[in-house]
Amino acid sequence: MLLTIKQVLTADELAKIQALIGSAAWEAGRETAGAQAAELKNNEQLAHESDSMRAIRQIVLQALDRHPTFFSATLPKRVFPPRVNRYQGTSNSFGAHVDNSIRFSPVSGQKIRTDISCTLFLADPSTYDGGELLIHDPQGARAIKLDAGDAIVYPGTTVHEVAPVTRGARLACFFWIESMVRDTTQRQMLFELDQTIQGLRNAHGDNPHSVALTGTYHNLLRMWADV
Ligand code: NI
Repeated sequence: MLLTIKQVLTADELAKIQALIGSAAWEAGRETAGAQAAELKNNEQLAHESDSMRAIRQIVLQALDRHPTFFSATLPKRVFPPRVNRYQGTSNSFGAHVDNSIRFSPVSGQKIRTDISCTLFLADPSTYDGGELLIHDPQGARAIKLDAGDAIVYPGTTVHEVAPVTRGARLACFFWIESMVRDTTQRQMLFELDQTIQGLRNAHGDNPHSVALTGTYHNLLRMWADV
């Protein structure tokens, strides 16, 4: 499931993050890629343990925590500490690749299975050309370029790439989620059921049917979740 989540960050949070990025030091991105992806990865990242990266990570994780759509769509068990990357000039693309299935959190040392990938866009799309996230599926590639503060979540299993940036700089925060529900189809059904229940409650208020459906949702989550 590909899902765009609008306004993960408030305007205030976005401005704070952009200011923190302005004073940060960058390093070559290929250091954190797997052997195959490293050949294709040509971008820059903020150092994981810099003060600015720590402050940005805290803002992003708090924003994710309070976002009901993010929770409903991903059912997070563990979130890889968010990182920030930049594509510009001659470090401007990341060829088609798959993400490593297991990653070690550089903060906790914990293993994280990358069920879901997330890109949170941080630059106004009018300030750069190119830089689309291309997500491949059997029908072709979907090109994703979102407003600053919006995010896309997509299955960690996909082949994807970042198209070359030909003007300006593309800034984004990226991370992975290990979900309580490992199976993509089960997770998607739970998301659709949850959204339907919210829609019914908004349209008709709480009633015995919406309560019963909420019970079904939680019983399915109990059956499928690994916590
Ligand atoms: Ni990737």
